[in-house]
Amino acid sequence: MSNYHIKHLEEYYQVYRKSVRNPEAFWEEIAEEHFVWRKRWDNVLSWDFKKPEIKWFEGAKLNITENCLDRHLPTRGDKTAIIFEPNNPKEEALHITYRQLHERVCRMANVLLDHGVKKGDRVCIYLPMIPELSVALLACARIGAIHSVVFAGFSSHALATRINDSDCKLVITSDGSFRGSKSIDLKVIVDKALEGCPGVANVLVVKRTGTKINMEPARDKWLQPLLDEAYADCVAEIMDAEDPLFILYTSGSTGTPKGMVHTTAGYMVYTAYTFKNVFQYREHDVYWCTADIGWITGHSYIVYGPLANGATTLMFEGVPSYPDFGRFWDVIEKHKVNQFYTAPTAIRALAKEKLEYLEKHDLSSLKVLGSVGEPINEEAWHWYNNNVGKKNSPIVDTWWQTETGGIMITPIPYVTPTTPTYATLPFIGIQPVLMNENAKEIKGNQVDGRLCIKFPWPSIARTIWGNHDRYRDTYFTAYENMYFTGDGALRDAVGYYRITGRVDDVIIVSGHNLGTAPIEDSINEHPAVAESAIVGFPHDVKGNALYGYVILKEVGESRDRENLRKEINQQITEHVGPIAKLDKIQFVTGLPKTRSGKIMRRILRKIASNDTSNLGDTSTLLNPEIVQEIIDNAL
Ligand code: WT7
Repeated sequence: MSNYHIKHLEEYYQVYRKSVRNPEAFWEEIAEEHFVWRKRWDNVLSWDFKKPEIKWFEGAKLNITENCLDRHLPTRGDKTAIIFEPNNPKEEALHITYRQLHERVCRMANVLLDHGVKKGDRVCIYLPMIPELSVALLACARIGAIHSVVFAGFSSHALATRINDSDCKLVITSDGSFRGSKSIDLKVIVDKALEGCPGVANVLVVKRTGTKINMEPARDKWLQPLLDEAYADCVAEIMDAEDPLFILYTSGSTGTPKGMVHTTAGYMVYTAYTFKNVFQYREHDVYWCTADIGWITGHSYIVYGPLANGATTLMFEGVPSYPDFGRFWDVIEKHKVNQFYTAPTAIRALAKEKLEYLEKHDLSSLKVLGSVGEPINEEAWHWYNNNVGKKNSPIVDTWWQTETGGIMITPIPYVTPTTPTYATLPFIGIQPVLMNENAKEIKGNQVDGRLCIKFPWPSIARTIWGNHDRYRDTYFTAYENMYFTGDGALRDAVGYYRITGRVDDVIIVSGHNLGTAPIEDSINEHPAVAESAIVGFPHDVKGNALYGYVILKEVGESRDRENLRKEINQQITEHVGPIAKLDKIQFVTGLPKTRSGKIMRRILRKIASNDTSNLGDTSTLLNPEIVQEIIDNAL
């Protein structure tokens, strides 16, 4: 079991050095000792960041579900794989053992096969956080179908775009979902989306809320009766190491969402290895990540990473505020959670509430606290450390991305001394570098720059579905032979990294990655709107909130401004989803533009943040006079 489980700082440095000096030998050893393969690889790694082309464990054959399920059956068959904690605390929690999960996955895999889903086909999954969601991912993986999970908070328009981009032939959804005191009619959203998706032949529907729904006779079927009839065993499809496992969409600074493609073997090895070390998972621990499986955090650290380690992973259907603000703490106490992984935005929201919500619960089971999705500010870090961890549970501030597949920069708990707001050190095998604006590497410490990674790691996304050129242009052209993250970072005197935020036009709101382009497009579709620009501004709970600058057409001039604001947000909700709503909307008569017509977002960002002291040189703008007008009317 050499190197698999790092236990002290000296060992970290030793293993890190080894992983960087000879990455092939290092990852080969990890892959060999901790996973089951149907055939061994011929070559550990081949890569070329110019094309770009990255292949790990080429020639190997495997099925990831045999690693996540079958191999545990002899030793962990009766161990709980998934704890399902429902939205309503009065509904009983479910404990699904590895044996039961295996059976459920096989049944669903057989249902998919019965519906003509074959290896390589794309299946869209649009489900709330219920066990069927995890089962659906694994069922696809069982038969070699590529899953594309769309977060069930996205609108019908956003869903349709994603279904069509990757040509999904089948959709798995539910009648509805429970979110706190509300329920949402998911099937209605799917029906609307599918009006524009001719390629979808079947919809399999999980019954969750019991609400009455429309069923298209030839297309839609309730899933449960099919599962009941299906065989409880399903032979795993033998996959190549580099066969796609899933597509997951993420926002870009321009254009349509990018379908990041993750492949099988490297993704499995890296998510499993990081899970083990970053959470210091031990055999009888209960691990809980509060993310939704609709995001990469859920794919890697609710489903694949934990299950590949034979862990017990908790799935929570609800929200932190229901039935009251003590729900997270209640769940931790109830299931004796040992590792708790959440987002800064949730911590900030809960820190605003009375401490009593927390104090009445026994949180002594906690050993590790995690943070992910956005920079964690000092205040939130201390609140988390003092009140949740009682200064006894190290905080792992984990930096990574949809594109990286797994955690990249992070402390290892009980190993790496932590510093508030610092993601600290690169994980084993990760080689971060900071670059300056002239594409030169900035060496040494106490420096800052643009964060790049100079060597491939096993779970890097391999392409953007259907658009390899965009993959190359987005990540591999800014700096030669480097993967560019889009983030800025600083490296302090001891070599610790602190992520300072996006350097492109992606805005992180409540830990959700939002691109400006689709939001602006949906605003511009409003009949009264001529043009718009959105930027982020600091928000005490969400991290960033959205500020929109909107130019009206003549027809809009006479309209009531408050009504227009409501309509614009309604439009965004329908096109993108409620998470992209604007906090502030300022109507302007022009936007600051460069002579080539590019909107100067830097200036708009400063005005939105109420920081107009140093706007820089605005005289080169096409329309410098507009700046003062915007400042004078800022909200
Ligand atoms: C972007 C990626 C990683 C899974 C969830 C988000 C920001 C993420 C941190 C962190 C500072 C962070 C970055 C990154 N981010 N984690 N610990 N500290 N910033 O995945 O939606 O692909 O977003 O989230 O800006 O580039 P994503």
